[in-house]
Amino acid sequence: MADISAPKGVRDILPDESWKWAYIFRVVQETALNFGYSEVHLPLFEHTELFARGIGDATDVVEKEMYTFLDKGDRSITLRPEATASMVRSYLEHGMGTLPQPVKLWCAGPMFRYERPQKGRYRQFWQVDFESLGSANPLVDVEIIALSVEIFRRLGLHQLEVVLNSVGCPVCRPGYRERLHRFFESRLDDLCDTCKGRLDRNPLRILDCKREGCKAVTEGAPAIYECLCDDCRDHFDAVKKGLHRLAIPYRLDNRLVRGLDYYTKTAYEVLSGSLGAQNAVCGGGRYDNLAEAIGGPHVPGVGFAAGVDRILMVMEQEGCSFGAEPSLDAYGVALDAGSRESVSDLVDHLRRNGVAADMDYGNRSMKTQLKAASQRRARYACIIGEGERQKGTVSVKDLATGEQREILSEDVVAAVRPRPSGDE
Ligand code: HAM
Repeated sequence: MADISAPKGVRDILPDESWKWAYIFRVVQETALNFGYSEVHLPLFEHTELFARGIGDATDVVEKEMYTFLDKGDRSITLRPEATASMVRSYLEHGMGTLPQPVKLWCAGPMFRYERPQKGRYRQFWQVDFESLGSANPLVDVEIIALSVEIFRRLGLHQLEVVLNSVGCPVCRPGYRERLHRFFESRLDDLCDTCKGRLDRNPLRILDCKREGCKAVTEGAPAIYECLCDDCRDHFDAVKKGLHRLAIPYRLDNRLVRGLDYYTKTAYEVLSGSLGAQNAVCGGGRYDNLAEAIGGPHVPGVGFAAGVDRILMVMEQEGCSFGAEPSLDAYGVALDAGSRESVSDLVDHLRRNGVAADMDYGNRSMKTQLKAASQRRARYACIIGEGERQKGTVSVKDLATGEQREILSEDVVAAVRPRPSGDE
């Protein structure tokens, strides 16, 4: 048989899950409004160069994980592995530098990375991505972190930990790189092959290696705090102070280096105790030189992206609420073939009046139709047979209590319309 399964690392979000996704997006959207962020929709693919220049040639994402192809016009195109570079491109392309700064934008959608799939790691995954562009003020970093934490609070996630670091800037990072290089060079034999390769290209990434041998070596590595320039240190202090003021707990971790090269100063992640190895529900930080890297003027920025697939996993694991599961208010049941058109007319009338209604289109028995109504979690069955047709009535059965009453057709909307909550 032909292979009709989805490619490795991608998955379908089916109805039993999609309503939970919708709930997460509602909460994100409301929180975005509260924090003054406007939604944008960005393309799923961009010129490859945008990511190569923005994210960095020597990152795993650009080197190994991008879905890149030539289009029919021989242009190199890449499915976006993340949204930050696109957001900065969009800001520059649309002259948003002339608007009051910072410009605060967010977007949601699938990202693509050719990674080894495992629990919580997919090749197509969804992010909600927030970016604040045009301000170097550390209070904006605090706002970004507070916003991510607030989204998770509203979704009911607990067991979360904010992990914070500063990765310096082009002024102080070269000195730190050099110190790290010297430190790891003398311990090369204890590093894994990947980290040996990182030594010359980006020794900071060695700090992030999850292998036990490398972790043991990095224990004694010099901390970046010792090398930060005055500007980066002041910025870092202001971010920490701001988080204290907002009572947002965090843990400092000088080994937190993010997998994308554009970060300057603040880097942070939100980790969940309910996930396995892929425990980051969100990651972000400041990227003051990204706009220049992609050919624009200097535009400082800070943002984060949260993985929706992982948020959902954590919520299910922690038993969080997703609000009410979608259900039908009414299900039309025809007692005989001759009544099916009347049921169809009734269902249409109900729908046009704001009632969630559906019906059975086969010639099935009343018992089977009532069973279908229950499976669809309908509150009422609206039954029409020859008797009802002649009298212009509908028999309305409450599927929870079994109580049934015959009412005039024109009164059905009022009888089955959902009542506002609290009006029970
Ligand atoms: P990132 O850390 O690469 O950062 O991704 C952010 C989040 O996306 C992760 O914390 C995780 O929840 C989710 N994620 C990443 N890869 C996968 C995957 N393969 N499968 C499932 N979920 C995944 C960025 O993408 C930056 N653009 C964030 C940012 C915005 N920095 C500044 N502004």
